Amino acid sequence: AFQVKLASTGEVFDVEKGLSITQTLELNGIEIPISCEEGWCGTCMTRVLEGIPDHRDTFLSDDERRANNLIMPCCSRSRSDCLVLDI
Ligand code: FES
Repeated sequence: AFQVKLASTGEVFDVEKGLSITQTLELNGIEIPISCEEGWCGTCMTRVLEGIPDHRDTFLSDDERRANNLIMPCCSRSRSDCLVLDI
């Protein structure tokens, strides 16, 4: 498991195995727009302020992946213990 932190409120949530970031946030009343939930449409794209995403999508380019400042939270996860999202 890893954590996501919302930059706007400072709230921190544990993302358990088997749940996506968007599912975790939705369970806590925070909705990120989603569509494909498979990492190809780009609808859920969210800015990352801190931490290193574990990219599982097929939407971002290699350069965008390396920049570590965008994530598709419907499917991607985290390499660091905590990801700070610009939400
Ligand atoms: Fe399509 Fe996340 S909902 S990429």
